[in-house]
Amino acid sequence: MAEVMDNKLSSVEAMDLENKYGAHNYHPLPVVLDRGEGVFVWDLEGKKYYDFLSAYSAVNQGHCHPKIVEAMVNQARKLTLTSRAFYNSVLGPYEKFVTEFFGYDKVLPMNTGAEAVETALKLCRRWAYDKKGIPANQAKIITCEGNFHGRTTTIISFSTDPDSNSRFGPYTPGFEVIPYNDLDALAKALEDPNVAGFLVEPIQGEAGVNVPDEGYLRGVAKLCKEKNVLFMADEVQTGVARTGRLVCIDHDEVKADLLILGKAMSGGAYPVSAVLTSHEIMDVIKPGEHGSTFGGNPIAGEVAIAALKVVRDEKLSENAERLGKIFRAEMSKLADECNLVDRVRGKGLLNAVLINDTPESSTAWDLCVAMKNNGLLAKPTHGNIIRFAPPLVMTEEQLMECVAIIRKTFLEF
Ligand SMILES: Cc1ncc(COP(=O)(O)O)c(C=O)c1O
Repeated sequence: MAEVMDNKLSSVEAMDLENKYGAHNYHPLPVVLDRGEGVFVWDLEGKKYYDFLSAYSAVNQGHCHPKIVEAMVNQARKLTLTSRAFYNSVLGPYEKFVTEFFGYDKVLPMNTGAEAVETALKLCRRWAYDKKGIPANQAKIITCEGNFHGRTTTIISFSTDPDSNSRFGPYTPGFEVIPYNDLDALAKALEDPNVAGFLVEPIQGEAGVNVPDEGYLRGVAKLCKEKNVLFMADEVQTGVARTGRLVCIDHDEVKADLLILGKAMSGGAYPVSAVLTSHEIMDVIKPGEHGSTFGGNPIAGEVAIAALKVVRDEKLSENAERLGKIFRAEMSKLADECNLVDRVRGKGLLNAVLINDTPESSTAWDLCVAMKNNGLLAKPTHGNIIRFAPPLVMTEEQLMECVAIIRKTFLEF
């Protein structure tokens, strides 16, 4: 135990401890991270790596950003949690800041992405009964094939991924799944007058960085408006500069009725999530009807303000847009040279390389292990797809060094 406290354990020992005492609900790459700074992380033996996952796009601002850490430490010394039984001196200023930052009237603060999605679903259903006039318990929410919105029992009820939902039933009713990137299917689904909302990821991250056709989200916003249905954009992964805009739907110049954010709201320093919407929609929720002990706590507020200021001041959207184009061009060149690479797709710095092998093969996993050995960390998703999503504070020089590592690994494989 003394060894653990002193942090002198080896990577092998750390992995053994997780295997022995932890639930096996993840399958991590065999690397034990101990320290992070900017785009880099170090393992227990001191080996340095480029982080090309950014904690699934939570660490957009880079590891341990000094301004975010400072905000967190200062607030932690002053007041950590009041619950919402009382007002706290950070929440109001944070709510003003975050709503102005994203351009919405009101915010409901939560902690994790899944909680924010649940919050949006509840707001949508309540709005359906109070404002749209849908008969009690008849509200229907449309979602998409291949979706990933989190792990709660309601959210997995409309997942189409057997790993996420099989043998966890019975499932929550009230959801219909339609194909992604299919406006005709959406138009048809919206013919039902009991449809209250459409929940969609602007790019399906977990499904393998599925980028919809140009104009899809504009079409979604238009159809939803015509049918008085709430357009709920889950930007937990795509939001906060990741795709080269502050939020991904900005590419289509549309606003959501309910904008769902998480992950990089805090730069990965603290669990912070949120639902942003209009006065009209938010005001359907009354005291006692929804909440969370930690939602809107003072550390979360200070951390999120600092993290969003970093996004603005360091121009992370612009950097993601510029470096993303370079990355995709370099990966396309690699695809021409190396038949392991089928193609690359993505927006900004949310990209995926499709590996020329079956989803059941171990090729993508083996490539990730080989990249790890060469000093770059990425993770496969859905078998034969490797997601590449570095912190957005990366420089062009660092990106080119990473491209060289990826090239070398693929060409030697
Ligand atoms: C689009 C999307 N929504 C929701 C979630 C769930 O977020 P959390 O893991 O913080 O609950 C994720 C997580 O990867 C996500 O990518």
